[in-house]
Amino acid sequence: MSSTAPSPVRVGLIGVGGICGFVHYPGLERIPGVDIVALADRNAELLAKRQQEWEVDHIYEDAAQMLSEIKPDAVVIATHNAVHKELIFQALDAGAHVLCEKPLGMDYAETVEIYEYAKRSGKRHMMAFTYRYVPAMNYIRHLIHSGELGEIRHARFQRLQDWGPFAIGWRQYKAMAGSGELGDMGIHRIDFAQDLMGPIRSVTASVKQWEAREQTRDGQTVPPQDVEDWVAWIAEFKSGATGVFEMGKLTRGQGPKGDHDLAEFNGTKGSAAYRLHAPHEVLLAGTGRDEAYKTVPVPAEFLTRPGSPRDPNEGDPNQIFRFDQAWEFISAIREGRDPKPSFYEGMRAQAVADSILLAAAERRWVDVPDVP
Ligand SMILES: NC(=O)c1ccc[n+]([C@@H]2O[C@H](COP(=O)([O-])OP(=O)(O)OC[C@H]3O[C@@H](n4cnc5c(N)ncnc54)[C@H](O)[C@@H]3O)[C@@H](O)[C@H]2O)c1
Repeated sequence: MSSTAPSPVRVGLIGVGGICGFVHYPGLERIPGVDIVALADRNAELLAKRQQEWEVDHIYEDAAQMLSEIKPDAVVIATHNAVHKELIFQALDAGAHVLCEKPLGMDYAETVEIYEYAKRSGKRHMMAFTYRYVPAMNYIRHLIHSGELGEIRHARFQRLQDWGPFAIGWRQYKAMAGSGELGDMGIHRIDFAQDLMGPIRSVTASVKQWEAREQTRDGQTVPPQDVEDWVAWIAEFKSGATGVFEMGKLTRGQGPKGDHDLAEFNGTKGSAAYRLHAPHEVLLAGTGRDEAYKTVPVPAEFLTRPGSPRDPNEGDPNQIFRFDQAWEFISAIREGRDPKPSFYEGMRAQAVADSILLAAAERRWVDVPDVP
């Protein structure tokens, strides 16, 4: 091994379902020096399939057994939300660094517990707030933080999809997910809004459940959904800026492939917008009153995170930016620094999410608790 070879990192994957296959495995697998040493999942059939596809030596139905026998340096936790906390605690106790899927926990109080535990462990802890790595988002972060758009006055955030009326598994039950569309799609937008515009001070909100989702696509009957399909809120940031957010899973006809995702920022010197279906471009406008948006390609330096091993021109641009998340996690472990975003940002986003649900339930403005 040459002296410049990257230090090896042995990783265990816990929960090898949808997002693990789409984002975590392919992101980690391409990083030199990363060895995916074991998989853990409660679903034996899926485990066996993944083992064959990914050629991983060790598989476990019990994550605790995987942690004690394999002793990985790091784990990715990509299970449904209700078990994030117990798996995080087990992994930290076993001495592993942890990348956990969003939302970090079931409610704000739980995320405070998780954050404090992780901080005391001295291990690296990171949130999978994946949209932070969209090239357009990298560029807009630069435009906002460098002051090129001036002072941001208002912004809007929309995630409008069409998932149809059928059952959607664990996502439709509060006991497994914590919340519906808010924890699924909303929490990402809370995170990147705060990353770009600073902390949210107060919110007012509304939620709706439109479908019972008692039928699966193949005709079985399941217990009805007990979480929201749609959520909207107005936020006031500590800076004084405002944000208007809307997320929905039943929005017929929205955007390419029914996957509309917009974040638009209006500043005193200009405006910028990101659209997920075009991750390598932004809409930009200056201060001229008659000036319409122009489509601007994201400059090369913002197409990937620095040092990332992926080629931004290879593969589906809508998938591959997500691999930079794994790069941030492994780089932070190797460099001995806190990853960004860490569980701190997971906790901070959950403080806002809980305030949104409270505001909707009580039909009023709610101040977001001060995050320690
Ligand atoms: N960051 C993103 O963009 C993004 C996108 C989708 C999902 N997610 C998040 O990822 C997580 C997983 O979502 P998904 O869509 O992949 O779900 P999924 O149902 O496809 O996969 C979850 C897997 O976890 C396994 N599992 C459940 N309990 C377990 C346990 N105790 N030990 C080991 N394995 C266990 C299940 O058997 C299943 O295979 C959720 O927290 C979700 O909110 C994030």
